[in-house]
Amino acid sequence: MVYSIVYVSSSSGLLADEELESIISKSRLNNSEKDITGVLLYCNGNIIQVLEGAEETVMDTFRRILRDHRHTQVTRLFAGMVPDRSFQKWSMGYSTMTSKDMGELKAAFPAIDNPHKRDLTGKTLSLIKNFYINNHRN
Ligand SMILES: Cc1cc2nc3c(=O)[nH]c(=O)nc-3n(C[C@H](O)[C@H](O)[C@H](O)COP(=O)(O)O)c2cc1C
Repeated sequence: MVYSIVYVSSSSGLLADEELESIISKSRLNNSEKDITGVLLYCNGNIIQVLEGAEETVMDTFRRILRDHRHTQVTRLFAGMVPDRSFQKWSMGYSTMTSKDMGELKAAFPAIDNPHKRDLTGKTLSLIKNFYINNHRN
């Protein structure tokens, strides 16, 4: 079993490529040391991130992410134990999304727009995993 958090947030203004790269490279460095894996998807100021690993370590990292002023409206959609890692190969996978992709993900998963419809079953994870496996380039 592994602990997993999925959240959405809005960047404080559109993030430039360099800012995103610096967030991702720092995340990869820190996460590898802490045996955290996951993915970050970005589209025009919308962020979706999955973190997975030991509960304490993931919570600790999430608390740091929460305090980061580069994004706001951090909304947790899923937090709990799941049977396996979805992103075991990635200390932090990264992909941009087109608005169309984002629209499809939102249509399939209303909680992205509406936190009251949180998906506590982990369906979010498989949707995000499928999206990432089909779209990532690195
Ligand atoms: C959208 C977003 C996602 C982030 N994801 C991670 C992450 O997965 N792991 C991580 O260590 N830091 C992540 N950060 C950075 C943290 O907020 C924080 O700046 C960093 O962990 C500080 O690391 P340091 O204490 O080693 O300097 C993220 C920041 C943002 C804005």
